[in-house]
Amino acid sequence: MAQVLRYLPVPKDANLLVGANTLDDAAVYRISDDLAIVQTIDFITPVVDDPYSFGAIVAANALSDIYAMGAKPVLALNIVGFPAKALPLSMLGEILRGGADKAAEAGVTIVGGHSIDDNEPKYGLAVTGFVHPNKLVRNATAQPGDALILTKPLGIGIITTGIDRLMVDQRTAEHAISVMSELNRAAADAMLKIGVSACTDITGFGLLGHLHEMAEASGVGAEVSLEKVPVLLEAWELVEKGVVPEGTENNHRYLRDHVDWQGLRREEQLVLCDAQTSGGLLIAVPEGKKVALLETLASSGIAPAEIGRIVEGRGGVIRVKRS
Ligand code: CO
Ligand code: CO
Repeated sequence: MAQVLRYLPVPKDANLLVGANTLDDAAVYRISDDLAIVQTIDFITPVVDDPYSFGAIVAANALSDIYAMGAKPVLALNIVGFPAKALPLSMLGEILRGGADKAAEAGVTIVGGHSIDDNEPKYGLAVTGFVHPNKLVRNATAQPGDALILTKPLGIGIITTGIDRLMVDQRTAEHAISVMSELNRAAADAMLKIGVSACTDITGFGLLGHLHEMAEASGVGAEVSLEKVPVLLEAWELVEKGVVPEGTENNHRYLRDHVDWQGLRREEQLVLCDAQTSGGLLIAVPEGKKVALLETLASSGIAPAEIGRIVEGRGGVIRVKRS
């Protein structure tokens, strides 16, 4: 839906440090020389059956855009659509409890919100964070030579579609839920400690969609090595059986003009385009700081992967190699 942003008026306020023009993860508004507020909103339809887990995933997903900017989330508001006549209200209670618990884990207070009657449940958060204007991490500042680091495995979209089609066992579903529920806070802390060039989080546009946005906004190209990209094992089995979410197909179609696939199989291409819910951070880090970043991420319990690099070239073009 990024295409609709061009219908918005061009902002003229000098204190707006990040607006919609670079497709960054959140808007940033300077309050004073040492404080800016960061704002984002995200809401989704259920990706798993368990309402409490869904709530927790929604909160981790919404907070992620704040972490991707190098900011600290502080306050949030619920946004809810719920079919109150068709489903028990206790189910909505569980969704909200999951969201509130995850927000509390992040040190964020949910201070209210708004709900409407809706045919299909929807839940999200509008989140406000704080950042020092000089500490802001954008997506439009990746530099040629930067290494690309990914902090969570891909395959979430394919697996949640597999759950929907009753093709996934309990253990796989639980693993996917734990990946989606994990906050990107520790990853953001590590990147702030080391200092990086650029960052975005991986959500509905998939790894290559979000990398394309970063590369285009930065005026650079990128290279990705398929074999270095971490992927949840079961996602490979499912994609071979034709389990592919519609969003993933859309991403793949959109990226046709921006990605040089170098003979990769269609299933491999789809995995790299897979629409994620609450995916990891994609960080562009100067080569000289790469080892320190990888070590700091690993010591926080994250399994970071170096998946490619930023290169000179036409803005937004991605070349995918096998190894
Ligand atoms: Co984002
Ligand atoms: Co978002």
